[in-house]
Amino acid sequence: MRIVLGVGGGIAAYKVASLLRLFTEAGHNVTVIPTEAASRFVGVATWEALSGNPVSNSVFDDVPSVNHVRLGHEADLIVVAPATADLLARAAHGIANDLLTNTLLMASGPVLMAPAMHTEMWQHAATQANVETLRSRGVTVLEPASGRLTGSDSGPGRLPEPEAIFNAAMALTQSLAEASEGQPESLAGLSTTEVLPLAGRIVTISAGGTREPLDPVRFLGNRSSGKQGVALAVAALNAGATVRLIAAHMDVPAPPGVELVEVETALQLGEAVLRAAAGSDVVIMSAAVADFRPSAVSETKIKKRDDTDDPVITLVRNPDILKEVVEFRNTSSRSQLIVGFAAETGDADGDVLDYATAKLQRKGCDLLVVNHVGEGKVFGREHNSVVILSRAGSEPQSASGSKADVASAVIDRISTELSRVYPRA
Ligand code: CTP
Repeated sequence: MRIVLGVGGGIAAYKVASLLRLFTEAGHNVTVIPTEAASRFVGVATWEALSGNPVSNSVFDDVPSVNHVRLGHEADLIVVAPATADLLARAAHGIANDLLTNTLLMASGPVLMAPAMHTEMWQHAATQANVETLRSRGVTVLEPASGRLTGSDSGPGRLPEPEAIFNAAMALTQSLAEASEGQPESLAGLSTTEVLPLAGRIVTISAGGTREPLDPVRFLGNRSSGKQGVALAVAALNAGATVRLIAAHMDVPAPPGVELVEVETALQLGEAVLRAAAGSDVVIMSAAVADFRPSAVSETKIKKRDDTDDPVITLVRNPDILKEVVEFRNTSSRSQLIVGFAAETGDADGDVLDYATAKLQRKGCDLLVVNHVGEGKVFGREHNSVVILSRAGSEPQSASGSKADVASAVIDRISTELSRVYPRA
């Protein structure tokens, strides 16, 4: 693919060197167009060396080839990162005063912009109106990540990680390609939300299994591998979301591009999930959380001695994190969709769905993804089969296949539910 990578004049320009690397390593031919201000942060030599292509930021360089016309027409995708407040404003108003903004006006393919700026600038009515204008014209404007900014401030305004921008760019072109198969004319009418249904949404996902220490070497754990949680994180990234992954013990690595917080115990998981949930549009509790923990943790290894009785481990109840997230959402009346997971077995008193329906009501979440466990099913396996129950009472929906297939079905359902219950402003 031929990609034009526009680089705005913000400190985050240095992170775009990694984004460029991701594009070139994936085999794409990238032409970098920095703005003049960007060149104050990262020199042209860096872009030329990493892209292997000449770099210019003026329409008056290489005049005979009319650079902006050629680049705008030839690009299969234009990515702008960091998209500063100034660049968003110029793009929204059609101002063409350098090579990048001229190229944007010539663009016939998809455009993805990854903003980065101080929180106040991002939240300013002028910037928000510019973002709205760009989105309404089909430009994919990602939501900035939250966190530490250039000075001592922190909040929304950080450039999403290079991997997240890369994933969103790939997902965007893939969805456009799928949508346009056999009907290229449909491409023009597609909105950001159709190609990246979770663009601009923040999704917190808990994954893996908690471990409750008994002493410095032993713990009470469970069989969760974290594979389903990681698959959900990948599917959410592919749908354009910013993903906060709270990972308890996992057998698989976290995917690149997520904001990762690693935890060990249920108490730590609870704290991290509640912190991440503030400001999230979706919370998915796919982690297997220990319901109980040892009432005391020995500071030294518990020894076996012949002269002592067999030890008895007393357990105390852990908080129900899912329930706490629901309570937090309800008391703060935030617009947030909460999804629980349930591993169930049936018995003589009821089948899996009876127990799951009762659990959905008890937990108060919006969706419950139900696994039928037992006989070696689910834990650590590559395949999964679930039923998605909704508190709103719509028909249960089944999904099965690889954990990636199940994850896309769950993320699709979440996207639909989210836009129905909490439509974008
Ligand atoms: N969960 C949680 N906090 C806990 C236990 C579970 O947030 N202390 C979450 C899980 O992440 C999952 C959902 O609750 O999304 C259901 O977990 P499950 O263990 O099946 O439910 P329990 O509440 O433990 O119900 P029970 O053991 O009675 O089946």
